Amino acid sequence: MDNRPIGFFDSGLGGLTCIPPLMKKLPDERIIYFGDTARTPYGSKATTTIKRFSAEIAGFLVKSGVKMIVIACNTVSATCVDELRRRFPQIPILGIIEPAARCVAESCTQEDNIGIIGTKVTIASRAYEAFIAKYNDRLSIYETSCPAFVPLIEEGIIDNDIMDLTIKYYMDDFVRGNSLDTVVLGCTHYPLISANIRRIYPHLRIINPSDIMADTIKRVLGERDMLADAPEKSNVFYASDLSENFVNMIDHILEGESDDARIRFLNFDVENGEEHI
Ligand code: DGL
Repeated sequence: MDNRPIGFFDSGLGGLTCIPPLMKKLPDERIIYFGDTARTPYGSKATTTIKRFSAEIAGFLVKSGVKMIVIACNTVSATCVDELRRRFPQIPILGIIEPAARCVAESCTQEDNIGIIGTKVTIASRAYEAFIAKYNDRLSIYETSCPAFVPLIEEGIIDNDIMDLTIKYYMDDFVRGNSLDTVVLGCTHYPLISANIRRIYPHLRIINPSDIMADTIKRVLGERDMLADAPEKSNVFYASDLSENFVNMIDHILEGESDDARIRFLNFDVENGEEHI
C-alpha cells in the first residue's frame, strides 16, 4: 500500500481528461496535476524543447513526492517516455499511447479502417502505428494531425461553429477518403471535442485513450502493491500560468468537484531550475 499521490502532467488542460476515469476506478488515489499552460501547445514544437520541458515537470513531480508519473500527453509520450524513464528510474512512468494502441490492436479487425488524429509531433513520430503493430500488425491505420484543435480548446472554443468547421476542415477528407469506421483521439485535449466529432461523424467508433489509462494505472500499481487506501482527498492542480479557463475547465471536467483552495499556482524559473508557488 502506498498513499503518496500520482503525478499527472500535460502541456495544458488536456490531461485533465484522464482524471475523472481514474477517480471513478481508484477513488482512494490522490493526484498532483501539472498543466504547462504558459508553454502550451507542445505539439508543434521541436523534440528537444519538449524533452527539456517534460524533464523539468517530471523533476518537479518527483520532488513533490509522487509514487508514479502518468504522462497525460500523447506528444510527450510519443517523444520522451524512454528518456524520462532513464532520468527518473525511482518511480514507474506511464505513457498514454501504449495502452490505447493495445486496445486498438485487440478490439479492431482487418475489416476496420482506423484513423489516428493528434498533434503534428505525435503523428510525425508514428508512435501509434508502431505500438499497434507490436500487438497486431495486420490493421489498416491512417494518421493525420489537427494542429489548430489544441489552441481552440485551450481558449474554451468548443461548443460552437468555429470548432465544428475546424473539425470538418481537418477530418472530412480524412474520414471519407479512407472510409474510416474508427477514430482514436490521439491527443488528451480531444476528448473535450468528442461530442462534436460524434455529432459530425455519427458512424465513427471513438476510442478515447484518457478512458483507457485508468485500467493501466490500476494494474501497474496493483502489481507493485502500491495502491492507496487514503481516506482523505487532497488533489492539487498546478499550472505554469493559471488562467481563468484552466480553473473553469477543472470545474467542468471534474463536474464541480474541484475546490479553489486546492488549485495552486506555480511558476518555473527555467534558468535557475527553481519553482515558485
Ligand atoms: N494534450 C497533448 C497531447 O496529448 C498536447 C497538445 C499540445 O500541447 O499540442 O498531445
